[in-house]
Amino acid sequence: MDRLLVTGGRRLEGAVRINGAKNSALKLMAAALLAEGHTLIENVPRIMDCSTMGEVLEHLGAGVGWDGTTLMIDTTGRLGIETPYELVRKMRASIVVLGPLLARFGRARVAMPGGCNIGSRKIDLHLKGFERMGARFTYEHGYLEAIAPVLQGAMISLDFPSVGATENILMAAVGARGRTIIENAAREPEIQDLANVLVEMGAKIEGAGTTTIEIEGTDAFEPVRHRVIPDRIAAGTFAIAACMTGGEVLLEDARPDHLELVMDKLQEAGATVEVEDGGIRVGLAGRPLAVDFVTLPYPGFPTDLQPQMMALLSVARGTSIATENVFESRFMFVDELKRMGADIRTEGHHAVIRGAEWLSSAPVRALDIRAGAAMIIAALGADGTTEISDIHHVDRGYQDLDSRLAALGAELRREPAVPIPA
Ligand code: UD1
Repeated sequence: MDRLLVTGGRRLEGAVRINGAKNSALKLMAAALLAEGHTLIENVPRIMDCSTMGEVLEHLGAGVGWDGTTLMIDTTGRLGIETPYELVRKMRASIVVLGPLLARFGRARVAMPGGCNIGSRKIDLHLKGFERMGARFTYEHGYLEAIAPVLQGAMISLDFPSVGATENILMAAVGARGRTIIENAAREPEIQDLANVLVEMGAKIEGAGTTTIEIEGTDAFEPVRHRVIPDRIAAGTFAIAACMTGGEVLLEDARPDHLELVMDKLQEAGATVEVEDGGIRVGLAGRPLAVDFVTLPYPGFPTDLQPQMMALLSVARGTSIATENVFESRFMFVDELKRMGADIRTEGHHAVIRGAEWLSSAPVRALDIRAGAAMIIAALGADGTTEISDIHHVDRGYQDLDSRLAALGAELRREPAVPIPA
């Protein structure tokens, strides 16, 4: 287990190319299970989570081959229906294979998920949706077994616009009999990317990207070639990191239409944001200004940028209020930020951040992917060298983060973790 040593006070400057979106690529990989043949997915980030999803597909019997960031998935031949605990426990998003497996085989056996440590992340909405479509479940020995001899289109109204439930139900519905309508669907750009690929494969979908998605089931899917959209969370992370250091970066390939509220909030904090032909240029001179923000499903402020934004605001002029509406306990990393001198008080799903003039280096932990990114951002703006342990969490979601930050001027290096004496 490595730790990352980050020496603060270096201004980030230059250009960084934004890789393909993790949260899109993972679902496109699952969607490949619907068709028989060779699917090619381009611009897949080379990160742990995508490797884990590759292992899930291999375990199901698919062939998986990488050429740089192009992924080839071969689903010819006999496929299995089981996803084991050792893979689902590494990444809870593995459960998105449920939908395509039910659509193609009418059966699936998936271990119950583990994954990111950010509150109780349930899958009841996924299961309710499948149940409406005629699936039945048994739960035994840590495995969920789903059976749907006939998957029937249905009217499904989600209690909350869950990203995973919308995607899982969508991938089942494209292969169900008749029409499915998903009401209160999530509208994230990654869902639109998934719907686009499904349509290219032969599905009939209308309304993806709105709150009502209509699907007419079919059983003829062709493998396709598709390029993953750029990762808006990676783009936001680099933008916030640049602002933390009083720097300026060009986020090459970033999509301004996917980042509107994030860029608005950074501008409110004093950043300059310019949309250029090849991407978005973001910079901030001096200390940020305090900003209130509220996380919400897309197009609201993304919960996946909440920790990074909190790190930035911990050195703002004035007091900011952050409200987390998507996950129950996504403030756990605050204790780590406080170790660096941040003045943050949390109450329920609100956090009051009194901007400090500076942060100081300290040994801290990366608690999950985005909390780890927040610690790196805090460290980039702190005096001295911060040691961030459990950095493997960050590697789950960020491609080549160390080398790309270093190319922008950050001073950082990895070292094997030093065991803590008993
Ligand atoms: C996805 C993203 C994650 C992001 C999140 C919200 C992937 C791989 N992960 O996660 O990075 O933070 O969207 O934008 O794409 N919920 C239920 N029951 C369910 C499903 C969800 O109660 O059946 C709750 C969750 O506990 C959570 C909220 O709904 O509080 C949002 O979850 P959801 O939108 O499903 O997130 P994920 O798809 O897990």
